[in-house]
Amino acid sequence: GTVPVIAIDGPTASGKGTVAARVADVLGWTVLDSGALYRLSALSALKKGVADTDENALADIARQLDIRFQDGKVLLDNDDVTEQLRQEHIGEMASRIAPLPPLRDALLERQRAFRQAPGLVCDGRDMGTVVFPDASLKIFLVADVDARAQRRYNQLIEKGFSANLGDLLKDLKTRDDRDQNRSVAPLKPAADAIIVDSSGLDISQTVDRILTHWRNLG
Ligand code: C5P
Repeated sequence: GTVPVIAIDGPTASGKGTVAARVADVLGWTVLDSGALYRLSALSALKKGVADTDENALADIARQLDIRFQDGKVLLDNDDVTEQLRQEHIGEMASRIAPLPPLRDALLERQRAFRQAPGLVCDGRDMGTVVFPDASLKIFLVADVDARAQRRYNQLIEKGFSANLGDLLKDLKTRDDRDQNRSVAPLKPAADAIIVDSSGLDISQTVDRILTHWRNLG
């Protein structure tokens, strides 16, 4: 049969990435952080001096990305960009270029190539709606914006970056708004998605919920 997919979509800083990685780890499946592909496209465009409005040049960049995911690190043109990718200005630029259809098309096949046996856990905005519409399980992971801002703040401080809670909150609201209201592949739950609210849950509780939904399918 086809390779099973667990699709986890949701807004910025809802904990999708961490949760997807843990679920994949428990199941022994491949993981795809699709946001990283948008961030890598943004970073590569910055490096090459390509404007964030030049949709065809951005699509070329996305098609030509020389990337490797290994041991929890992300390499772009053989450079370790793991930390750089997480920076706010990269996420911000990713969300500005993400609405461009030629870029999304260029990334579509790259994302689908991650579907390998025994299974794939992926996270993003449109995993369940566009990239893997036949996913076995679709989770829409939400958390209220204050909880998300606080989590993002804690992550940045922990990594030694400086951060301002008010600025992060403002940035999250802008990103939510942009991701939900764009005309192509907007952030929204698939019709058959299960909504999980992680506001009052820690990571392992959220992971357990998702694994329970998965096991209940079988
Ligand atoms: O998930 P992350 O914050 O790393 O994603 C960065 C940006 O990339 C998002 O704000 C969103 O605009 C875009 N994105 C997307 N579709 C995805 C994943 C990310 O449009 N599947």
